Amino acid sequence: MTAQIDHALEEIRRFRPSPEFAAQSVADPGLYEAARTDRLGFWADQARSLLQWEKPFTRTLDWSNPPFAKWFDDGELNVAVNCLDRHVAAGLGDRVAIHWEGEPGDSRTITYAELTDEVKRAANVLTDLGVGEGDRVAIYLPMIPEAVVSMLAVARIGAIHSVVFGGFSAESLASRIDDAEASVVITADGGFRKGKIFPLKLTVDDALERSAGSVKQVLVVRRGENEVAWNDERDHWWHETVGRASNDHEPKAFGAEQPLFILYTSGTTGKPKGILHTSGGYLTQAAFTHKNVFDLHPERDVYWCTADVGWITGHSYVVYGPLANGATQVLFEGTPDTPHPGRWWEIVEKYGVTILYTAPTAIRSFMKLGRQIPHEFNLRTLRVLGSVGEPINPEAWIWYRHVIGGGSIPVVDTWWQTETGAIMISALPGITDLKPGSAQVPIPGISVDILTDEGEHIVGEGGGLLVITEPWPSMLRGIWGDPERFKETYWEKFGDKYFAGDGARRDEDGDFWLLGRVDDVMNVSGHRLSTAEIESSLVAHPWTAEAAVVGAHDETTGQAVVAFVILKASQEEHGNDAVLASEELRTHVARQIGPIARPRQVFIVNELPKTRSGKIMRRLLRDLAEGREIGDTTTLADTSIMQIISAQVR
Ligand code: WTA
Repeated sequence: MTAQIDHALEEIRRFRPSPEFAAQSVADPGLYEAARTDRLGFWADQARSLLQWEKPFTRTLDWSNPPFAKWFDDGELNVAVNCLDRHVAAGLGDRVAIHWEGEPGDSRTITYAELTDEVKRAANVLTDLGVGEGDRVAIYLPMIPEAVVSMLAVARIGAIHSVVFGGFSAESLASRIDDAEASVVITADGGFRKGKIFPLKLTVDDALERSAGSVKQVLVVRRGENEVAWNDERDHWWHETVGRASNDHEPKAFGAEQPLFILYTSGTTGKPKGILHTSGGYLTQAAFTHKNVFDLHPERDVYWCTADVGWITGHSYVVYGPLANGATQVLFEGTPDTPHPGRWWEIVEKYGVTILYTAPTAIRSFMKLGRQIPHEFNLRTLRVLGSVGEPINPEAWIWYRHVIGGGSIPVVDTWWQTETGAIMISALPGITDLKPGSAQVPIPGISVDILTDEGEHIVGEGGGLLVITEPWPSMLRGIWGDPERFKETYWEKFGDKYFAGDGARRDEDGDFWLLGRVDDVMNVSGHRLSTAEIESSLVAHPWTAEAAVVGAHDETTGQAVVAFVILKASQEEHGNDAVLASEELRTHVARQIGPIARPRQVFIVNELPKTRSGKIMRRLLRDLAEGREIGDTTTLADTSIMQIISAQVR
């Protein structure tokens, strides 16, 4: 009965777009119809109307060699020109591209004309440093305008960027540099984080010592003004090179399938995957979704996506989507709570932000602090709110809409992945009746389904595995250097359908509800971490004999990393001081992978639950970590083991 009532409550909470909003919406219902009638024609129209092609394409999709798709492949364009020069040429050079706000409160306003100039200068410097078409450039920067400039400069010369999140360790950076064989790294002396300087250049120096040696040049932006070691042969200051370079740069047009970037993400094995994206299709879908999902009116909106450029959200919805659409946006270096817990809301007020795109974990942290903090600021300019990264629970959705949005503006929950490149499932705010907690419907031109484990289509309502049934423009083109892994990971399970790794269910209206990962990938604060990666870091510690990691439910971060570790017999004295051992191992993981991977808890135990074939039953450990009754233990080799482990954990 209660379940029925809950269900009924969910049913009641529907929010129809207001007539005023619908009247000014950039998207119209005809988009769905057009895409249904002629899906490829629809995407070709979008590519032509949203982008500037130096050579028009005649082929929309080449799917003759699945799963390797080619979109618009006989067309040519320059991605950076699409994000910059063409807006200047259209007379929009004075429009603000970036309102940048540094953590300490310094700020810069950068117009499209200025950003274009800076990108041209940086492109000239990269060319001088020997970067050519198809070469890889690693970018390891804080959220400063130079991060955007670097990405676009790399794109402009047809090279490939690999942005590595500034919170990753030297070891993580080194493995990414090696995998991509990057020849140049762009970094900063240091960045600001919670009032302190974190030394990026130092980490790069350390990474280059560990790496195989592909990097020949390092370009260093001065930001933290902290002291750095200098290698005259290799290191160059940004202000001395880019600052003095010519702003004259003739862009070349590249094929639509020219690789644009590699972005590493966690998979089910220990080794991060270099997800490869290319140019024309990626930019088409990034621009299309940015415009329609956020109802972008570039002439009057001030858009703010809080993601770091180190993640896919920062690529598609800080850099490529907004700039391709000529948007004005806020770029913020800091964290939500430094120097005070109202920092974000102060920024919304200062710049008159109209569209805000953020993650549920941030919303839940603000909920905990209470509504009085945002209420100290004027947030009435906001008119569209977006969410990404993990399922947003209905309570957080409602809070976001009411407390941040004043109760009447649309909240769009957007489902997508590093691999999908751009938003795949989302409401369109002027069209869709909103349903808190549901990502709702595939965007026009996208086909998704829910299948059973055996690959059968689930008719009507019901839960199963989310798949994408047709190739889409911004789909990944592969895993860098590993076509086999690409096929295995995403295509082996269902043949011609892309397996996303997420569970989902469809309700009676046909709306999609995302249910979280079905593989060994955890989602902590919207960041993907693999259990295998953290386990291998734990066993790399000299004290560890065996380790098992699970993602346990966490009220704020969605999931949290919880580890169970057996110490080596020779190290058992550390086990006597479990607090010390667990602290040591938590720090070790943070040092090896990065602070985002630091386990919330490390339990020192004597046993791990294993099946007769020796497979660790993480499901039981998750029950334990979440304080639930332990599930079915009959397949364990030793059914009493969970009692022993529970006693040790308590
Ligand atoms: C999860 C981030 C539910 C999902 C753009 C996916 C979501 C993974 C949502 C990708 C959402 C992302 N609702 N789950 N709106 N958005 N996810 O690659 O599990 O960092 O597979 O891309 O995040 O994470 P990634």
